[in-house]
Amino acid sequence: MSRSYSIAVIPGDGTGPEVIREGRKVLATAASVGGFSLEFVEVDLGGDRYLRTGEILPDSVLEDLRKVDAIYLGAIGHPDVPPGILEKGILLRLRVELDQYVNLRPVRLYPGVQAPLQGKGAEDIDFIVVRENTEGFYVGSGGFFKKGTADEVAIQESINTRKGVERLLRYAFETTRQKGRRKRLTLCGKSNVLTYAWGLWTRTFAEIALEYPDVTTDYAHVDAICMWMVKNPEWFDVIATDNMFGDIITDLGAMIQGGMGIAAGANVNPNGVSMFEPIGGSAPKYTGKNLINPLACILAGGLMLETLGETASANAVEAAVVKVLSNDMKSLEAGRMGHTTTDVGDLVARYLQ
Ligand code: IPM
Ligand code: MN
Repeated sequence: MSRSYSIAVIPGDGTGPEVIREGRKVLATAASVGGFSLEFVEVDLGGDRYLRTGEILPDSVLEDLRKVDAIYLGAIGHPDVPPGILEKGILLRLRVELDQYVNLRPVRLYPGVQAPLQGKGAEDIDFIVVRENTEGFYVGSGGFFKKGTADEVAIQESINTRKGVERLLRYAFETTRQKGRRKRLTLCGKSNVLTYAWGLWTRTFAEIALEYPDVTTDYAHVDAICMWMVKNPEWFDVIATDNMFGDIITDLGAMIQGGMGIAAGANVNPNGVSMFEPIGGSAPKYTGKNLINPLACILAGGLMLETLGETASANAVEAAVVKVLSNDMKSLEAGRMGHTTTDVGDLVARYLQ
C-alpha cells in the first residue's frame, strides 16, 4: 500500500508564500522519488485574512488542522497589523492548542556555508536546541494595574508546571540518546536568580537523569550559554531550555549556523499534529521580490519528512541542500544568493532527482 500524508500548508505573511512554494516543490519531488504521496491543502491564515475579514484563527480552521498529518508554515507577521495580534493569535495559539510542547531547533553549520565564527567549522557547530513551547512567559499570565498612570504596575509571570517541564525534559533526554553525537545534554537556565522556576527545572532534570545513565548531563546559565555558543560551540550536543530562553538562544544559534536563511524548526507534539517552519520571520522588505532564501523552509520540510517517518527522504533533502550550499550559493542572505528564490528551489529539487 502506498504511503500518503495530508499536509496543511499555511503560507502566511510576507515572504512566507515564496519560501513555502519552493518547499512544496522540493517536498513533491522528494515524495515522487521516495514513493509516497503528499496531499497539500492550503490554509488561508495571516495578516491579509485578518485585514480583510477580521478573522485571526477561526475555530473551524483549527478543527481542520487537528485532523492533518502535519502543518507546513511559511511565516506569520504583517507590517500593517500591530505586533502580537497575529503572532499570539495564530502561531502561539496553534502551538498551545495542538499541544506542540517541543520546539526542536537544530543548529548546524552545513558544509559549504562560510563559517560565521572564525576558526569554527562544520564539525564544531552541530547541536540541537529542545525548547519548551507551551509554557513560561509565553502563557500570557499577568496584567496591568493603574495602566497609563504614573503608578502603573505591569506583571508578567512565567508559568512552569511539573508536567510541562517533565515531558519536555523526557523528550530532550530521548533526543540526546537517539541523536546526540556525544550523548550530552545541557540544561540552559538561570537558577542563580529565577530560583522558583529553575528550582523546579533542575530538580526534575536531576530526577530524570537517573533514568538515562548513558546520557552525560550538565547545567549552564543562559548568559554563559550565549557566551559559549560563540566561543566554544563544539561543547554542545543537545540543549534543553524553557520557552523564553529557547527563543533567544535559537536566534543566536541561527546566526552561528549562517543566518535565518538556513535555520529551520519543528513544533512537535509527539502524539499529535506537528508544525514545521523556517524560524526567520516574514521579512516584509523582501516580499514578492523572489530574493528570499528558501533553504530554511526547505530544511523545515525535511524535518517534517523525518517526523512522518520518511527518514530516507528527509536525509535526501538535507543532502540536496548541502549540495546546493557547496556548489551554487554565493551567500545565504536574501538578494545575495546569486540566485532567485525560485532557482534555489529548482536546484534542490534537481539534486534530489
Ligand atoms: C519564534 C518567534 C516567535 C516566538 C514569535 C513570532 C512569537 O520568534 O518562533 O521564535 O517568540 O516564539
Ligand atoms: Mn524567536
